[in-house]
Amino acid sequence: MRNVETYNDHVVRLFLLAAAVWGIIGMAIGVYIAAELAWPALNFGIPWLTFSRLRPDHTFGVIFAFGGSALIGTCYYVVQRTGHTRLALGRLAHFTFWGWQLICVLAMVTMPLGITQSKEYAEPEWIIDLLIAVVWVSIGVVFFATLARRRIQHIYVANWYYGAFIIAVGLLHIVNNLVAPVSLWKSYPIYSGVVDAMVQWWYGHNAVAFFLTAGFLGMMYYFVPRQAQQPLWSYRFSIVNFWALISVYMWAGSHHLIYTALPDWVQSVGMAFSLVLLMPSWGSAANGLLTFNGSWHKLRTDPAAKFMVIALVFYAASTFEGSMMAIKTVNALSHYTDWTVAHVHSGSIGWVAMITIGSLYAMAPRALGRPAMHSTRAMNVHFWMHTVGLLLYVLAMWFAGVTEGLMWRATEPDGSLTHSFIASLLAAKPYYVVRWFGGVLVVGGMVVMAWNLWHTAADARAHLIKPIPVPIPEPEPHQVPAPLPAMG
Ligand code: HEM
Ligand code: HEM
Repeated sequence: MRNVETYNDHVVRLFLLAAAVWGIIGMAIGVYIAAELAWPALNFGIPWLTFSRLRPDHTFGVIFAFGGSALIGTCYYVVQRTGHTRLALGRLAHFTFWGWQLICVLAMVTMPLGITQSKEYAEPEWIIDLLIAVVWVSIGVVFFATLARRRIQHIYVANWYYGAFIIAVGLLHIVNNLVAPVSLWKSYPIYSGVVDAMVQWWYGHNAVAFFLTAGFLGMMYYFVPRQAQQPLWSYRFSIVNFWALISVYMWAGSHHLIYTALPDWVQSVGMAFSLVLLMPSWGSAANGLLTFNGSWHKLRTDPAAKFMVIALVFYAASTFEGSMMAIKTVNALSHYTDWTVAHVHSGSIGWVAMITIGSLYAMAPRALGRPAMHSTRAMNVHFWMHTVGLLLYVLAMWFAGVTEGLMWRATEPDGSLTHSFIASLLAAKPYYVVRWFGGVLVVGGMVVMAWNLWHTAADARAHLIKPIPVPIPEPEPHQVPAPLPAMG
């Protein structure tokens, strides 16, 4: 119970709960739109149920509601522990929780109604964007104020990543959302044409870089050594990778606009920086994996560690794939196909979701003042459901993507296309069904996690009501608590 008193974990627990709930909602919408792609009649002719309206609900739900809640929650948790201090500005921290949830609800309700800026990953209209800016600045104030009152001189590397995530996302959000409002729910961007596209993909790519990568690396750099019970493999290497990552990522956005109206040299800059980006990406993945040296046996008993290791493997795999896809000749095959969707989900269901789930399993018992999660068996079930679902999803989309790319480029000797577009859709359909099933497994695993969290919280409540009058030995978080010593 020491943690509960020393640190402000109430707001951390709220974010943890929100992450679990939004994870289920966002991924369930993903499963629904995956089903719509396999069986289009599922939109029932209702506008707000159509794929185009629900797709941004899925992306916003998983990235900003699920990922965002997990990132802010863990960031508040980590900055307290690494600074040996309580969270600064407790009321503001609570405001950030309720503010962020309000933003998520507003965005998730307005987008299916057709209220959108039509910018990918920046769909909410200007009025919601203003709210995001206010809450985001508040998150920064809480984080940096806590950092300022730390009782340890050194700033642990996880906080560097969290700090970069907060500063960069604020900057990206404001620049990309500069618009001229014409009514409460409609605005037009101040940029036009190819400049608009470039600003949008500078934002879009760096949302991947700083939201889906830097923030989650912060999580990784704290929770992996914690779970492996080893110091980081190389602390110096983590700092080198930090500076390399944040200086290179900003220049790679134009790889989203290869073979477009963007000047060719700008596309080449994006391609070159994407190739360089492989180094800091693999640097962090290697650093995390090598931290398990001497602790590999934990993979037999500790599901949280298993989630973390597979997350790091998928971080390495998806960044390698991304760097390859940025090469112009490869992009000529992959662009517009489901290969991109495979890459996105090996990064998001593989890296982002798995490092989050591993960290939540590591953090939840501590934040709730319990020695371990309620059920280790349920954690194992979740691990296998997630891993099998992920593999089905990614393999199916790789096959679909390469099939589509090859069919679209095949030509007859007279130059006409060998395959019609509808033929490529029919070829992809079986893979869409497999992807949908993979998604069902992933969401099923999330429900198992929610059940487990719920019971861990219930155990914590019962424990508060009936305090046990003997000191509790502090076992490893993954272990089943040892029986209490006999009283006498
Ligand atoms: C149950 C798990 C999931 C399922 C079934 C699922 C399904 C889908 C589907 C069907 C699409 C639309 C693909 C298309 O436009 O052709 C999509 C897009 C997307 N999803 Fe997921 N998803 C899941 C989990 C996640 C997670 C956890 C994240 C992020 C943390 C995520 C991020 C995205 C992104 C960024 C896109 C847009 C991809 C692009 O534009 O290429 N998804 N998802
Ligand atoms: C070295 C790191 C990476 C590089 C160089 C990279 C590169 C790329 C490239 C070239 C594309 C395809 C652009 C297109 O043809 O339209 C892409 C798409 C995408 N990548 Fe990555 N990627 C990297 C890491 C990641 C990671 C770790 C994630 C997720 C956690 C991710 C998420 C995405 C998303 C969401 C898209 C789809 C954007 C869209 O069209 O909506 N990427 N990436």
